[in-house]
Amino acid sequence: MKKLFLLLLLVFIHSCDKPEQIDHTRDTERFGLVANKAIVVSAREEASKIGLSILQKGGNAFDAMVATEMSLAVAYPFAGNLGGGGFMVYRMENGEKGSLDYREKAPLASSKKMYQDEQGNVTPEKTKLGGLAVGVPGTVSGIFAVHKKFGSLPMEEILAPVIDLARNGYVVTAHQAETLKKYSENFISENNDTILFAKSYAAGDTLKNPALANTLERIVKNGKKEFYEGETAKLMIEYLKVHGGIMTMQDLKLYQAVWRDPVTFNYKDLGIISMPPPSSGGIVMGQILKMAEPYPLEKYGHNSIKTIQVLTEAERRAYADRSFYLGDPDFVKIPSDTLLSDSYLKGRMDNFSFSKATSSKEIEHGEIAGYESMETTHYSIIDQFGNAIAATTTLNGAYGSKLYVDELGFFLNNEMDDFSAKPGSPNMFGLIGAEANSIAPGKRMLSSMTPTIVEKNGELWLTLGSPGGSTIITSVLQTILNVSEFGMTMQEAVNAPRFHHQWLPDVVLFETDSFDENLLDSLKLKGYKVNEGESMIIGKVDAIRVLPSGKLEGGADKRGDDTALGF
Ligand code: GLY
Repeated sequence: MKKLFLLLLLVFIHSCDKPEQIDHTRDTERFGLVANKAIVVSAREEASKIGLSILQKGGNAFDAMVATEMSLAVAYPFAGNLGGGGFMVYRMENGEKGSLDYREKAPLASSKKMYQDEQGNVTPEKTKLGGLAVGVPGTVSGIFAVHKKFGSLPMEEILAPVIDLARNGYVVTAHQAETLKKYSENFISENNDTILFAKSYAAGDTLKNPALANTLERIVKNGKKEFYEGETAKLMIEYLKVHGGIMTMQDLKLYQAVWRDPVTFNYKDLGIISMPPPSSGGIVMGQILKMAEPYPLEKYGHNSIKTIQVLTEAERRAYADRSFYLGDPDFVKIPSDTLLSDSYLKGRMDNFSFSKATSSKEIEHGEIAGYESMETTHYSIIDQFGNAIAATTTLNGAYGSKLYVDELGFFLNNEMDDFSAKPGSPNMFGLIGAEANSIAPGKRMLSSMTPTIVEKNGELWLTLGSPGGSTIITSVLQTILNVSEFGMTMQEAVNAPRFHHQWLPDVVLFETDSFDENLLDSLKLKGYKVNEGESMIIGKVDAIRVLPSGKLEGGADKRGDDTALGF
């Protein structure tokens, strides 16, 4: 009887802990920003502020997306961009869902072995630095596609505050000063010492980018054509020619963002909507969550040894499939339904045992009938009408290829590194690819970006995503589990320490000084190769949750300058 009472008490205490039951007005410590109607959360306060101002004017989440995306291009050149690409997942207030692919493409003059020498060895620098690393940018096509389909305010009105931000400047943060310093030698060696980013900037300085303000003004005036066929296009191609690039005016003219059906699957009572190929995000996250679903993670506990083992082993198997099966769906046939089917995934975990780590050498892709990385940036928006978007955008590496078109005011991506330059040769994130992700003219390189929206009982519940290359997928899924299984608030869930495994290299990464040494020792005894790395950060998640009251809670990751603002 006493035992039963204790058990009931434990169940009661535990259920009281669930954020759904917590009154956020009394337990403010645990919650991020709580707002009545709308929230924008992004990597920079300026971008969240401008996105929110568009909502306050009566604009919708899609208008705010355009404003936030472009504000990040101004105030967060580390990953925000005009010279890169991204993905967006949306859920309308009426439940309609969709996704937009504005991923970069390989230029028409590219070829399968373009990074290999005569002996077939890959020259890795060429995929990362300089003109050959640059894919055809998709971001500007992306914002115009969104605006055309869903926009409610004129582009001129949406971009006016962004142009002001570029012209009048933004204040450099301490994080930003650090990264600008870290890459300043690259900026000079890849460009010259007269470009805007060759100067040194300290925290508190105001950084103005009049060239970018002018480019944005021309885009407002001339539309998408300005970027893909106009003066901006010409200057970009001239610049690339001098820097060893192969992109042409024809490449730019042909570029189109593509609306795609999102990946949708269930995890317990949650309906998950995420990005389909050419991002691996939705499928790989779906595989991991569905492989983990039969295990009682809530009972095992957050970051307990059993939870870490289940997720690590599911990750090992899903990333092995990623490497073999996934690529641009316009070029390769992807068995998406099978990869996400219960029967296939059940079989994948058959050889998992809690007593010993599986070796990645024993795991290949299933038969069917890098690391300290915060590159890329994610923002989430829920508007006052109930529309939600999750958008992840990137230059790939920090400041992309480091090529900066000074006259235009933006960096160019090095997204070509996301292709498999040669089967078995790792990219900057250590990811290994195969034929499905080999280079071909006009093909999109495989991504890990995972903008995601989660429904609970058919209603909007979360919108989230993360930067972090290959660690994006594992960061997003751990954040979902932190709320759904482990009772955290949105803010707690994005801040919680994370770990990551990606099949190869066969190593489990843990955020520095965040996991108990005894736990790591126990994992080592079971055969796991553990890497805590120095100053290792895994992901930087920006998310929003709908509270049972209908109010919204923002989760702005503590790992950066990320900020949630709302009304
Ligand atoms: N460039 C990182 C990704 O797309 O996964």
